Amino acid sequence: MINKIKYLMIGLLTSTAAMAQKPTYKEQYRPQIHFSPPAHWMNDPNGMVFYKGTYHLFYQYYPKATVWGPMHWGHATSVDMIHWKNKPVALYPDSLGYIFSGSAVVDFNNTSGLGKNGRPPLVAIFTHHDPVKEKAGRKDTQTESLAYSNDEGKTWHKYEHNPVLKNPGITDFRDPNVSWYAPGKKWIMTLATKDRITFYSSPNLKVWKKESEFGEHEGAHGGVWECPDLFPVTASDGKKLWVLIVNINPGGPNSGSATQYFVGNFDGSTFKAINTDTRWIDSGTDEYAGVTWHNTGNRHVFLGWMSNWEYATTVPTQVWRSANTVPRELKLVNIDHDYYVTAEPVKELNSLKTTSVDLKTLNVKGGKDLTKLLKRSDNQYELKFSSKQLKNFSLTLSNKSGEQLVIGFDAAENNWYIDRTRAGVSDFNKNFAKRMTAKRITAGPGTDVTLIVDAASVELFADKGATVMTAIFFPKKPYTDLAINSKDGFEISGVTYSPLKSIWP
Ligand code: FRU
Repeated sequence: MINKIKYLMIGLLTSTAAMAQKPTYKEQYRPQIHFSPPAHWMNDPNGMVFYKGTYHLFYQYYPKATVWGPMHWGHATSVDMIHWKNKPVALYPDSLGYIFSGSAVVDFNNTSGLGKNGRPPLVAIFTHHDPVKEKAGRKDTQTESLAYSNDEGKTWHKYEHNPVLKNPGITDFRDPNVSWYAPGKKWIMTLATKDRITFYSSPNLKVWKKESEFGEHEGAHGGVWECPDLFPVTASDGKKLWVLIVNINPGGPNSGSATQYFVGNFDGSTFKAINTDTRWIDSGTDEYAGVTWHNTGNRHVFLGWMSNWEYATTVPTQVWRSANTVPRELKLVNIDHDYYVTAEPVKELNSLKTTSVDLKTLNVKGGKDLTKLLKRSDNQYELKFSSKQLKNFSLTLSNKSGEQLVIGFDAAENNWYIDRTRAGVSDFNKNFAKRMTAKRITAGPGTDVTLIVDAASVELFADKGATVMTAIFFPKKPYTDLAINSKDGFEISGVTYSPLKSIWP
């Protein structure tokens, strides 16, 4: 939090400069197939809820600078999670403090009584962070509050008796994620409380009772637990389990912020994990604060913030800072008698494809220049391939100035990796230029790979999404060339290259 206050000071100084520039969506590094705010600072996705054909995305937003500051909830809507309409700011800071992260639900039974004319309200449950208490060095700075909308998310009102959950004296007491637990006819709040999750329950969203704690001795503990998410999933073999997502900062597998998860059982009161190891939804450096959409039935669609607190406020973009990942469909898959969460881009992303190039089979012995084969000149695209036998290989995205990003598989280490040591500008943070790795989960010989490349990001979905890595990068000029290398003769099939249309008009 101290860091964030420091950003706030820088923010006030830089705000006038940022305001002077108007967004065009054509700026250097501006993502073309990912959501980014038109201008200014964004961090965590918040209040993701689907209602009456509309996907709502709220987000941590500071509308006065391109660095973190007094938090608001920015708002955008979409009918497909891909194309977005920017909406007015939904929640402003008030006398109880800044508006930190949280979730939103459709209160179908009007348990809260906040509905109007027989229509269910949308209710946002968020953290109020009091900067005055923080300055005074108090621990009880964070409380949980409600806001509601009676017009399908257009306008929002703060609940008059906020906060609905007071702080028991814990410094990190935030990011409530609420969902309806039908068997117990009650709401469950999953709250990040420093080094663990605390579950609360409520009949009406207004009165909360503590149920249990989870995680003091489980998972990764290299930093503070933040932004949790709990949901039931039916696994690929039909088994019914629960997934608990817990973001952590720092302490990620490649340093800084990251999203871990637990698989287990939840009985309406306590969560018990069945995995004993630490697992990551995304092992790259640049997916954080990811959670899933509410009210999407059995579909679990995940969206993360595509940055890392190590350098988020200093990345070299003007006008705006930060984007989200592509929406990803999460599945629970039985791999070698264990249950893992896999993630792959949602099928809605296919609507951005125009003409795909299908290369069928390619035997990579030595290097193959794909630039010519694919005749590519696009800044954003999807590249897919599969192989019956995974071997050492590397894919290099580069430009004529010698900047390059390398993505590949290291058979000796059994690691997927992304190497951005020479990817472009990196002087804004000493930790940025690095090679990041992720252990391969699947033991099978074959692989399936999907890469989503945008102006300043790559998302790698390996082994049907069992290993996922996201990395951002900032080349001085766009990467125009693409090559694949393998000293071991890696044979790939179903090679499909699909340019993706920009989502912005
Ligand atoms: C995560 C986080 C949350 C908090 C918000 C403040 O990135 O630190 O825990 O609610 O950002 O902007």
